[in-house]
Amino acid sequence: DLTLRKLADKNNILVGAAVNYSKLSRDSTYRSLLANEYNALTIENDIKFSRVHPIIGTYDYTKADAIVNYAINNDLKIRGHTLVWHTSNPDWLQNGNFTKDEMIQILRDHITNVVGRYKGKIFAWDVVNEAFNEDGTYRDSIWLKSIGKEYIPLAFQFAHEADPNALLFYNDYSNEGINPKSNAIYNLVRELKGKGTPIHGIGFQMHFSVNSDINYKKIEENMRRLKKAGMIVHFTEVDVKVTDLNKLPIQLTEQAVKYGELFNICLNSNGICKAFIIWGLTDKYSSSASAMPLIFDKYYKPKQSYLAIKNQL
Ligand code: XIL
Repeated sequence: DLTLRKLADKNNILVGAAVNYSKLSRDSTYRSLLANEYNALTIENDIKFSRVHPIIGTYDYTKADAIVNYAINNDLKIRGHTLVWHTSNPDWLQNGNFTKDEMIQILRDHITNVVGRYKGKIFAWDVVNEAFNEDGTYRDSIWLKSIGKEYIPLAFQFAHEADPNALLFYNDYSNEGINPKSNAIYNLVRELKGKGTPIHGIGFQMHFSVNSDINYKKIEENMRRLKKAGMIVHFTEVDVKVTDLNKLPIQLTEQAVKYGELFNICLNSNGICKAFIIWGLTDKYSSSASAMPLIFDKYYKPKQSYLAIKNQL
């Protein structure tokens, strides 16, 4: 019986899971399941700003290195997540009161150091994460306050200089359909492309529940316009939560239907969507474990959702 990984390889699509060092280092079942079933992974938390750069100018790569080494040894592609995100700033940065020039220097140093360390190893980076509000305005953050919206092209430029071959993504949630936020992202892409900023893809997080009303046609429409603007797409953080344990059998089927539809639009996107990453490996370790949002259950057994994906390959 072929694994999901083997089938994905044949179909030239990346399937992956977000992983954490705390589990990877301790759980051999986790390690083998991941490497057997997936051909990609995302570093869920261990490379975020506050984790890797907790003191100004001092970097701690112990955990990120371990994940990267594991991935290389098992031939998994690695997504780096994330360089700039309003919620992952260490205190020294969040409360630092730096000038604009100092903040640009901090941004440059951080990105140069982190991306440079994994040059040629991390193939895709979520350079900027969640920079827009739902209404399409720029989200308030220390970066916006100190540097202005130029922090976005600067971040991409610094990342590109540190690894010219890495694919650079803008990543967000509720940006997969057509709405004020995704319009703002589309406009940003066109503006950045227009001035030669190195940006290559848009990440759709896609955190859903079984009750989410997903407009698949609108997602395809959005992907088509992004492709015209020169982008590829990754589905970066897919999960589908169940909401009512009393309706479990039905909801697990509904979950599988949603996973299947989402995978279908990625697989059949004419090459626009190149990766389908699920936000965790097993329900056992999900941050919302009671919502059982993943495709392997807490005993690491494949769920209906797993089959809904695999049966398309
Ligand atoms: C979440 C992780 O899953 C949690 O473990 C952590 O405590 C907080 O961050 N959007 C993102 C991800 O881009 O980085 C977030 O991940 C989930 C929402």
